[in-house]
Amino acid sequence: MTHPVQIPFLNLTSEIERIRPEIDQAIARVLDSGEFIFGPELSAFEAEFAAYNGMLHAIGVSSGLTALKLMLQAYGVGPGDEVIVPANTFIGTWLAVSAVGAVPVPVEPEFDTRNLDINLVPGAITAKTRAILAVHLYGAPCDMDALRHICCVRQIPLLIDAAQSCGAEWRNSRTACLGDAAAFSFYPTKNLGALGDAGAVVTNSAEVAERIRHLRNYGMTNRYRHDCKGENGRLEELHAAVLRVKLRHLETNNRKRSELAAHYLEIFADRVEIGVQRVPSYGRSAWHLFTIAVANRDQVADKLKKSGVGTLIHYPVPPHLSAVYWVEMRKLNVLPVTEKLSDTILSLPLQPLLDETSVRRVANILGEVIR
Ligand SMILES: Cc1ncc(COP(=O)(O)O)c(C=O)c1O
Repeated sequence: MTHPVQIPFLNLTSEIERIRPEIDQAIARVLDSGEFIFGPELSAFEAEFAAYNGMLHAIGVSSGLTALKLMLQAYGVGPGDEVIVPANTFIGTWLAVSAVGAVPVPVEPEFDTRNLDINLVPGAITAKTRAILAVHLYGAPCDMDALRHICCVRQIPLLIDAAQSCGAEWRNSRTACLGDAAAFSFYPTKNLGALGDAGAVVTNSAEVAERIRHLRNYGMTNRYRHDCKGENGRLEELHAAVLRVKLRHLETNNRKRSELAAHYLEIFADRVEIGVQRVPSYGRSAWHLFTIAVANRDQVADKLKKSGVGTLIHYPVPPHLSAVYWVEMRKLNVLPVTEKLSDTILSLPLQPLLDETSVRRVANILGEVIR
């Protein structure tokens, strides 16, 4: 019996193997230095990551969720406030808002871009709205011109959950630098992934940067002087050293993701039953994920698995239907676009070490499965 060629959804070990000597060197440098928290690797990474995003400040923190929480706190978001969020996102976006005591106000996406339906945003803004927290889902930018305009008119900060969009662009600028601040996750599977949990906030505001630096370190301003209720949200030297290595490879890897995505798009161009993500013309996606929307999604995923192709679902349960938000969000009734996406969305393999042949193989198998 012949076994089908295996194309896993993601193979992180092989990704790391390709740059293993550089990673080993970075880890050895930290071990030799004897500095494990707040050392030269963190300062260097923060400077390099700020420059990469075209921002003045980057503050390394312990995870994407911490980055989101501290960013919201630094903008004064708290109990009694509302924050506009996409209805379809990883639940971490909403949880950050809840964690600071504010209420997430979900706005439906457009089905084809999977991102915030800009026409619905103004109607969701109330006197309590303290910020818009936009997500560039799967790496594809939201309409930043429209969001900037809305935030400017309403005089509220435009904050970005950039967990999935490291390297994404809008009109040839990094999307992160077009908001007031952006929060990143360096979870291992992300375009810029650490060897564990890590995150960062980038901003041009020295005041916000300073507040986040205090908040991530127990609210400490000077040694054992605490002026706010902070937390332990620090980014460790080992992670910073490895992230510096990976940052050097990010552009090459993002280019590769973009080439692979272009192959999928070309092959699926006349397959209307395969709903690919539309990227607005001024945007350049970081292609964190390549998603399609298909009928009978679970059966399609199952057949792909039997043919050796790994897939994942981002996300099968939208935040408002998850147990944690079910009661709070009951009054919303339904969010039909979000719910349709969660029923039909499927992520195909897309990682820099794949080649065109693998992508064509996945696309051919998918074509046969759907037929
Ligand atoms: C959109 C989004 N927001 C927030 C997060 C939370 O990041 P982390 O897992 O690093 O806390 C993630 C990633 O997991 C994400 O994809």
